[in-house]
Amino acid sequence: MQKEELEQTLVLIKPDALKNSLTGYVLSQLSEVHSGLRFAGAKIVQVSRMLADQHYAEHRGKVFFPALLDYIMGLEHYPNDPWKRRVIAFVFQGPGAIAKIRAIAGPTNPHEAREKRPGCIRALGTIVLLKDAAGNVIGDRIDNLIHASATDTEAEREIKLWFKPSDIPPLMHAYPTEVNEDHYYFNDKSLSMTQESGSVCLLAPGDYVWKSDLDALRLIYKGQPSPCTIEMVAAKYLINEKRETV
Ligand code: CDP
Ligand code: MG
Repeated sequence: MQKEELEQTLVLIKPDALKNSLTGYVLSQLSEVHSGLRFAGAKIVQVSRMLADQHYAEHRGKVFFPALLDYIMGLEHYPNDPWKRRVIAFVFQGPGAIAKIRAIAGPTNPHEAREKRPGCIRALGTIVLLKDAAGNVIGDRIDNLIHASATDTEAEREIKLWFKPSDIPPLMHAYPTEVNEDHYYFNDKSLSMTQESGSVCLLAPGDYVWKSDLDALRLIYKGQPSPCTIEMVAAKYLINEKRETV
C-alpha cells in the first residue's frame, strides 16, 4: 500500500449525536462515496474520566474543561441513564483522511458552522452557556456531535489512545507494533511489573501492542522521562473495564 493510503484519523460520534439519533446521518456523511475513505476500526466506548482527560489533555485548565469531560463521558446527555453513556469511536483511513473529515465535520462552533458551511455535520450542533454559582456566564460548552483529529500528530496520539493494534486489521496498521514479553500492572496512577492488591493487569506476555506504548512503559518503569504518561497508556487498556466506568 502507498504511504498516503495509510493516512488515518480518529472520529468520535459524541453523546449528543447518539442522543439525537444522528449516528446514521453522521456515518452517511462520512461514507466512502462522500469521503473516499475506508473504515479501519470501530468500537463503542463508555468513556472513563481518565480517557476523557487524556483525550482532551490540551484543553486542561480552560474554563470549559470540566464541562467538556462531563459531555464526552455522556454525563450531560444521560444524567440518569448511565448505561446509555457512550461514544462510538472510528478510525478512517485513506489519502487526505484528516483534512477530508475535518472539512465534512465543519467548524468547531456550530453558529460559525451554520453561517460559513451550511450542510456540514457541526451545523447541527448547539452551544450551552456555562454559569458560576452566582449565575454569571463564565464560558460555553460546545456540543458539536463529532470529534475529528486535526493534524497528523494528533491523529496518531488519539488513535493510539482509543485503539489497540488488534482493534484494527493488521494490513491497515499505520504505526509500528511489537509483541510484549512482560507483565505490566496499573495501580492508582503507578506502574508495576508484579501483581499487588488492587492492581489491574494492563499487558501480559504475547499481547500485541503499539511499539510506542511499550517504549513508554519501559521508560516509566525505569523512572526515566517518557513522551507520554502512564494514564495515557493505561486508559486504552481499561476501555470498557467495569472498574473504570464509574
Ligand atoms: O473539536 P475541535 O478540534 O474542532 O475543537 P477544539 O478547540 O480542539 O475543542 C475541543 C472540543 O472542546 C470542541 O469540539 C468542543 O466540543 C469543546 N469546546 C467547548 O466545549 N467550549 C469551547 N469554548 C471550546 C471547545
Ligand atoms: Mg481539537
